[in-house]
Amino acid sequence: MRLITRLIPRLVRSRRRISFVSSTSILISLIIILFVINHNQESKVSLNKPVKTHVKQLVLSHNVTTLFQKTIPIPKKITWPLDEQGRSLKTDFLVLDWTGFFGAAAGEGERVQCPSSNAMFTWTRQQNRIDDIDFIISHDAGAGSSIPFDRLSLNKDRQQYTMAFIIESEVHSSTGDAWARFNFKMTYNLDDSYPEPATYFDMNPFIIDLLKPPVVPFESKDKQADVVWIISNCHAHNGRELFVQQLMLELKVDSYGGCLNNRQGYGARMVDNFAAYKNYKFVIAIENSNCQDYVSEKLILAVSSGSIPIVAGFNGRPDYRRYMPEHSYINVFDYSSIKELANDLKRIGSNKTLYESYLWYKKHDNDISKLREMPLNEKLKHLADTIGSNTTMMIDGIAAKEKSENKVCKLIRFVRQTPWQEISAHKKTARADSSIACLPGRCIMNYFDSPQKKTSTTIRS
Ligand SMILES: *[C@@H]1O[C@H](CO)[C@@H](O)[C@H](O)[C@H]1NC(C)=O
Ligand SMILES: *[C@@H]1O[C@H](CO)[C@@H](O)[C@H](O)[C@H]1NC(C)=O
Ligand SMILES: *[C@@H]1O[C@H](CO)[C@@H](O)[C@H](O)[C@H]1NC(C)=O
Repeated sequence: MRLITRLIPRLVRSRRRISFVSSTSILISLIIILFVINHNQESKVSLNKPVKTHVKQLVLSHNVTTLFQKTIPIPKKITWPLDEQGRSLKTDFLVLDWTGFFGAAAGEGERVQCPSSNAMFTWTRQQNRIDDIDFIISHDAGAGSSIPFDRLSLNKDRQQYTMAFIIESEVHSSTGDAWARFNFKMTYNLDDSYPEPATYFDMNPFIIDLLKPPVVPFESKDKQADVVWIISNCHAHNGRELFVQQLMLELKVDSYGGCLNNRQGYGARMVDNFAAYKNYKFVIAIENSNCQDYVSEKLILAVSSGSIPIVAGFNGRPDYRRYMPEHSYINVFDYSSIKELANDLKRIGSNKTLYESYLWYKKHDNDISKLREMPLNEKLKHLADTIGSNTTMMIDGIAAKEKSENKVCKLIRFVRQTPWQEISAHKKTARADSSIACLPGRCIMNYFDSPQKKTSTTIRS
């Protein structure tokens, strides 16, 4: 339009040279051309109204093929089919990522397959599509408090669910009633999660890591020190660095990380940790806080290196028997003093027979390369056969609860197997506060400083 207003005075000024008829016809054709262009643009936008933002992206990126591929699969007519029992018959779900995950987010229109239920889902970040979505996913419950829960339906016509998840400890993430608004609460807590936990463990590689032979044999382990520690958070809630400092007075501990560093050669990256861990007899794998079931990649990495993990679990916070075979780790809370612990580490580290007794579950007839190819349920059978019925804690613990698939796929499998009425009736609960789920701050040193510790109910490994 600005073009026309600029053109009109110019045409009027040149009226002496151009006849009135010809200038009028030029003006009329210009108006027609501009109208057609403008109308085309508008109709293009209105055709794609539900995906308006994509049109903008499309114009910006000129990447027409991929963007159309991403936007086309979104179902036009939403149906909510159920079987007679009220279980979802959908095979294509729409999932809204409400919060993103540590600055990263699901890709708009990204499709994910869920082989366990022969279904798939599409990610969206468009909060205005709330009437079409099947699940809203929130990282941490506090961050999802802006979700319009009242606008969601859970009835025979439409089943919309909310889920909040977290894999940080109660000390470092939200607890309390914010969690009781969500249909599904997925945390690392094996019992408190519904329908399944979201843990650090992928059981497929973890079972292989447990059953495979030690990466470095006893004779080739580091000669300077038996124990390694690589940590960058030097102010952990449980005060583990104070404990390691005292342990260092009793025996040699090589620390490559940012805390109490006394040796160089490995960085703090995970691959470096593995490279260092495998050369030592013991790996300190103590978490930053002592909470129910809070066991992170620290243990997983120690296990994959084939060295014996040194852990800290007291009064079920956490209970390592739910994650490991018995007699496969050293629990610092099994000792009444740091000196006693250090002497036991020296004793175990200097006797090959004794040391290898902590790796007893690696002696079996399974062919590891065949095991790798097996589906998870087969792997689990072999694990149970190998570690025996004396380690039911682990079989009933992480091995039973972690299905090692995408969190949304866990939900899809569940809603396709469970009547919506049952899910709707499930009592939503708060997440226990850190004062209940976790031991108090500085708990490791409090334990060793306390004269009563010998009467306490420690978990023996
Ligand atoms: C279009 O986007 C895809 C990924 O989204 C990328 O692989 C491809 O190179 C892009 N093509 C062009 C021409 O930018
Ligand atoms: C578990 O059972 C196996 C096989 O029966 C046995 O060798 C091992 O010593 C047992 N472990 C413990 C901790 O009892
Ligand atoms: C080494 O440990 C084994 C198993 O505990 C034990 O039988 C043996 O006596 C120990 N050897 C020495 C030299 O202490």
